[in-house]
Amino acid sequence: MPADQTVLNHAARILASVTPTLPADSALRRYFQDHSKVSPGLRRVISRTVFIYYRWFNWLDSRDSLQRQLAQAEQVAARFDRDPRSIKPEALAARAVPTWAADEIEFSADDLRQLQRDPALWLRARPGTAGALSAALGDCEKTPASPDAVCYVGTQDLFRTTQFHTGAFEIQDLASQLVSIAAAPNPGETWWDACAGEGGKTLHLADLMANKGLIWATDRNERRLQSLKRRAARAKLFNFRSVLWDGGERLPTKTKFDGVLVDAPCSGAGTWQRNPHARWTTTADDVRELAATQTALLNHVAPAVKPGGRLIYAVCTLTRSETTVVAEAFTAAHPEFAPAPFTLPGREPADALHLTPHALNANGMFIAAWRRA
Ligand SMILES: C[S@@+](CC[C@H](N)C(=O)[O-])C[C@H]1O[C@@H](n2cnc3c(N)ncnc32)[C@H](O)[C@@H]1O
Repeated sequence: MPADQTVLNHAARILASVTPTLPADSALRRYFQDHSKVSPGLRRVISRTVFIYYRWFNWLDSRDSLQRQLAQAEQVAARFDRDPRSIKPEALAARAVPTWAADEIEFSADDLRQLQRDPALWLRARPGTAGALSAALGDCEKTPASPDAVCYVGTQDLFRTTQFHTGAFEIQDLASQLVSIAAAPNPGETWWDACAGEGGKTLHLADLMANKGLIWATDRNERRLQSLKRRAARAKLFNFRSVLWDGGERLPTKTKFDGVLVDAPCSGAGTWQRNPHARWTTTADDVRELAATQTALLNHVAPAVKPGGRLIYAVCTLTRSETTVVAEAFTAAHPEFAPAPFTLPGREPADALHLTPHALNANGMFIAAWRRA
């Protein structure tokens, strides 16, 4: 359904507030904080309209008013939804992603089309409860890619459900869920989630460990770790310790770990469907700098893996520089580590894997794993 004028006006005001330091997703959050009377349903429509604008940005006439451009974007999106093949893959490759991406990412035609669609909303149910959660929430679809993942296709505000407040699920992209499944920690082990952020993967690791054993959750951002603690309390998960770590050579502990997960900061090209504004703000220089940070993080954590322990590297991007190049450089520089296959539901074992947006209807992700001799 096309957006009405009220939606276009809200969306135009949000676009006008976007700056190099206030990306679209933050601008949306701030706008809705300042306009708390906007209903959850209307917020969803406004957010979608803003994201459609960035997905179809290169099809718009920048001389027009923002309202008119938003309406143009809606029209292109509607035409594409009716017939995805009406826009040729060559046009998508040239206009839906930044030009530098051609040197870094091999998008298939299906992936390019996937980037232009509304993203799926994935939930992670607590282990073994996906069926009960689906029945309680309604409007949920299962996937063979993970036993605990469900795709929510309804319209209720999930943050207001009892199930959310009692920790029955987390909102977590399917590709992110597969990272912890690839890590496959055992109850009672000791793990280090080195870039824990707000704890999406820490909580999943803790669940897979049945709340037994210990996870060191570190990040250089204190605010994110605070959020992790709130989420863990809601999920009643206690087998973790959160500590600030700046990612440097000086490690936060002398502990040797059964497993270390480096869910590294990255260019986020795998999230370009969900966060289309990032297509136009991320640069080739960012990719180069992030690849150096990722390499440093892997080198720094490597001594903390105990003999026989595992190291998992994950990034929600698909650039060559941040994925295979980083992984191959680590293998070459660390003869004490050998690539170690991991298994995801319905897939052949692999020691490194690109998960593409089209394959999963989710974010793009790269996962690599090693075992220490
Ligand atoms: C991809 S996010 C982690 C997401 C998190 N694992 C999750 O599943 O919710 C990367 C994290 O790395 C952190 N980070 C960035 N640079 C870092 C560095 N040099 N050392 C340690 N952490 C860093 C960021 O603060 C961010 O929280």
